[in-house]
Amino acid sequence: MDNRIIIFDTTLRDGEQCPGASLNIFEKVEIARQLAKLRVDVIEAGFPVSSPAQFEAVQRISDAVDSVVIAGLARAKEIDIKAAYDALKDAKKYRIHTFLGTSDIHILGKFGEDKYGKTLEEKRQTVLKMSRDAVAYAKTFTDDVEFSAEDAGRTDIGFLSEVIEAAIAEGATTVNIPDTTGYNFPSEFGAKIAELRRRVSNIDKAIISVHCHDDLGLAVANSLSGIENGARQVECTINGIGERAGNASLEEVVMALKVRKDLFEYYTNLKTEEIYNSSKMTSSFTGIIVQPNKAIVGENAFAHESGIHQDGMLKNRKTYEIMTPEVVGVLKSKIVLGRHSGRHGLKSRLLELGYDMKEEELQKTYEKFLALADKKKEIFDDDLRSLMGDKKAHNVETHYELEYLHIDAGTSSIPTATVKIKINGKSFQESAIGDGAVDASFNAIERALKIKSVVESYHVRSVTSGRQAMGEAIVRLRKDEISFTGRGVSTDILEASVQAYLQALSHQQVYLKNHNGAAAAESLSILSQGV
Ligand code: KIV
Ligand code: ZN
Repeated sequence: MDNRIIIFDTTLRDGEQCPGASLNIFEKVEIARQLAKLRVDVIEAGFPVSSPAQFEAVQRISDAVDSVVIAGLARAKEIDIKAAYDALKDAKKYRIHTFLGTSDIHILGKFGEDKYGKTLEEKRQTVLKMSRDAVAYAKTFTDDVEFSAEDAGRTDIGFLSEVIEAAIAEGATTVNIPDTTGYNFPSEFGAKIAELRRRVSNIDKAIISVHCHDDLGLAVANSLSGIENGARQVECTINGIGERAGNASLEEVVMALKVRKDLFEYYTNLKTEEIYNSSKMTSSFTGIIVQPNKAIVGENAFAHESGIHQDGMLKNRKTYEIMTPEVVGVLKSKIVLGRHSGRHGLKSRLLELGYDMKEEELQKTYEKFLALADKKKEIFDDDLRSLMGDKKAHNVETHYELEYLHIDAGTSSIPTATVKIKINGKSFQESAIGDGAVDASFNAIERALKIKSVVESYHVRSVTSGRQAMGEAIVRLRKDEISFTGRGVSTDILEASVQAYLQALSHQQVYLKNHNGAAAAESLSILSQGV
C-alpha cells in the first residue's frame, strides 16, 4: 500500500460551519489560493445547494484554483448532487462528495417517517438504496466521487460495511469514515478502519478516508490511528476550526507525520513552510482567534520562557525543539514597511505573506496602508495581516459604512456617542448614551438603524506591539440561534469596535437576504427611506 497521505482540506466547508465564522466570497477565494500554495490535495469549497452564496463560492473557487481537486458537498439527493455538479463543472479537477447518516441514531432521527420503512431494518435498507443511488447519480457527472457514511463512528460495523461495499460497487473512488460526533477513542477508531478492510470485499478499489471531530480532543489522534490502520486520506481544517469543538487540525496531522517519520513512514505533498501563512489568513478572515498554546501555530508554540529552557536553546535548539519554526513558516517578525514604502514593496511583502491580489484590490489596500502608515511609523507583518483581514479593504459588499464617529467619555461624564452610517447611498445619524463608550456607540448604531441586536460576545486585543499597536475588535451577534461575527481593526480601539459591530450586522443582513429574501429586503427598504 502506498504511504502517501492525501490531505483533504475542509476549512471552507466544515471549518466555516464553526460557530461565529463567516467568510465572504473574496476571503474564500483567497484562502483557497493559499491552500493551493500549501499544496493540499483536495479543497472542499462548500455545500452548493445550501445557499446561493455557497453555490457562488464553489463556482468562483473552481474558476480560480486549478492545481487542486475542488470538492463540493451534497446530501444523497439528486437536487444536491446536481447543484454540486453545476457549481463545480468549470473546475479543472473536481469531486462530488455525497453523504448520508448511517448510525441508528441518525437513521431514526432523519428517516423516522414510515415512507422510509417501518422497522429499523427496513429503514436501513432504504439508506442502503439511497447511498447506492446517490453514488450512481454522482458518477453520471464525474469519475471522482466520494461517499461519506455520516456518524460512521457510531454506526454498527456490519451495516457500515454493507453501505461502504455498496458505495464502492457503484463507483465511489473514496469512502469516508467520519467520526461526526468526536465520540471514538483512537484504538477503537483504528480498529474500525482495520475491520472495514477485512469485511468489505471491494475495499481495495477505493481510498479510505477519515474525518474526525474534536469533541473529546481526540480528532488528530483518531486520524493518525486511522492512517496506521489503512486510511490514506485525512479530512482536516486549518487551525482545527469546525462544527462545535472543531475538526482534526491540518497542521497537527501533517507535522505529526513529518516530525515522527521515524515511527510512521507516511508522507504528504504539503509545503509545510506555508502552514503559518495559512493559519494567520484563516484566523484573520474568520475572526476565530488561535489560542496561544495551540500546537504548531499558536503564538507560544516556539516561545521559550524559562531561563533553563532559554539557556538550553542557546546551546542547542534541539534541546527543547522537535521542529524548527522555519519549517512551518514562522519567521521572526521584522519591520518591513513604513510611510515611504511604495505599492511594489507592499505588493511583494503581501505576496510573501500569501495574499495575491488584483490591481484594483491592491490599490484599495495601498490606500488603507498609507492611512495606517500616517498613524503608525512601523508596519509589521501582523499589521499587514490585519489590514488584509479588514473586509473594507476588499471589494466586498458591506451594507453599513461608518462615515463618522464622535465619542464623548471620561471619568466624570456620561458616555455619549454620535454615529453617521451610510446604507445604500443614504446617511443616517443618531446619538445615544451608554454604560461606557462602546455601549454608547452600539446604542447609537441601533438607533440609527432602527434595530435591536443581541451582542453575544465582544473582545478587544492588540495585534501588534507598542503604543501604536493595531487594536482588533471582534463582535459576535446572535439572531434566531445563528451567530454573526464582525471584525474591525484600527489604531483606535473604539473605531475598531464600531467597525466590528457594523460588519457583524452586515453579515447578518447578507444571511437574511440569502435565506429569507423578502423579510430582509423589507427591512432594507424601511431603512432606505431614511430618518
Ligand atoms: O462530520 C461529518 O460527518 C461531515 C460529513 C458531511 C462528512 O462533515
Ligand atoms: Zn464534519
